[in-house]
Amino acid sequence: MTNWNKIWKDKKYPMWINKGDIANYWDKNAAKRFHRLSKNRSSSEKQVEELNLKRTDVVLDIGCGTGRFTIPIAKRVKTVYGIDVSKEMLKFAKRESEKEGLKNISLINANFETFDINKIEKVDVSISYNSLGVYDIKKVLTKINNLTKRDVFIFTFAEKGEWLDKRLAEIVYGEHIKDIPPSAEIIYNLLKEMGIEPDFEVRHNVWKSEYNSMEDAVKKITEFYKLGDGLKKKVENFVKENSVYNGEKYVLSQQRDIAKIHWRVK
Ligand SMILES: C[S@@+](CC[C@H](N)C(=O)[O-])C[C@H]1O[C@@H](n2cnc3c(N)ncnc32)[C@H](O)[C@@H]1O
Repeated sequence: MTNWNKIWKDKKYPMWINKGDIANYWDKNAAKRFHRLSKNRSSSEKQVEELNLKRTDVVLDIGCGTGRFTIPIAKRVKTVYGIDVSKEMLKFAKRESEKEGLKNISLINANFETFDINKIEKVDVSISYNSLGVYDIKKVLTKINNLTKRDVFIFTFAEKGEWLDKRLAEIVYGEHIKDIPPSAEIIYNLLKEMGIEPDFEVRHNVWKSEYNSMEDAVKKITEFYKLGDGLKKKVENFVKENSVYNGEKYVLSQQRDIAKIHWRVK
C-alpha cells in the first residue's frame, strides 16, 4: 500500500527545506507578495463567495498570509482566526484589517503544525490556500478535521511543479519531478484513507510575474534556485517562450493548476 504521508515527508518537504526555514522565507517575501496580490482583490472576493459562509460562522484561515482571504471572510462572518508562521506577512494582514475597521479578526503568529488547537474555539469552517508548509501532513489533516465543525476547504497545487510551471520545475528539480505526486494528489489519498470523501476540482491558473528584462528574469530564477550555467540556457528558453513585453515590463506567465479540495465534517 502506498505510504502517502511518507511520500509527502520524503519528497515534497525537501522542496520547502531548499528554500530555508519557512517563516524566514515568507518574512522576506511578504512585501512583494502583498503588492502583487493587492492588484487582484476581486478574485479573492469571488473565491470567498464560493465558501457558502454564514453570518454566524467562526472561520479559521490557516497560513492566512497578508489576509487576502481573511479580510473578505471577516466581512461576512462573526469571527475569523488567521494563523501564520510569518510575522511579516501578518503585519500586512493587521494593517489591512485596521484600515477596513474590522474588529472580528484574531491574528496568531504560530506554526499550525505545532499550534495547540485548544487555544481557540472549534470553528465552523477552515480554509487553507497554498499554505500547508508542514512536515506531517497526515497529522495536520486530522488536526484540521478535528477542529472544524462543518466545512474544510484546502486549495493546493495539482501539478507536479507545485508553485512552478511544470516545465520550469523539470529544469529546476530535474526529470525526477515526474515521479513526485503533486500535493493535491497526496492530500486527496490521505483523506480517503481517513474515511473522508472530498470533492475535488482543479482550476487552471496563470501566475504572472514582472521583470525589468528577460535577462533579469533569467538571473533572478537561476540565482534563487542556485542553478549552474548548464541550466541557464534552458531557463532562458523558458523565459523567451513564456514572456511578453507590456510596454513597461516583461511579464512571465506560468501555468499553475490549483485543486480545491472540500469536505463536510461528519
Ligand atoms: C503562498 S502564501 C499564501 C497566503 C494566503 N493563504 C493567500 O492565499 O494569500 C503561504 C502562507 O502560508 C504560511 N505558512 C506556510 N506554512 C505554514 C505553517 N506550517 N503554519 C503557519 N503558516 C504557514 C506562510 O507563512 C505564508 O504566509
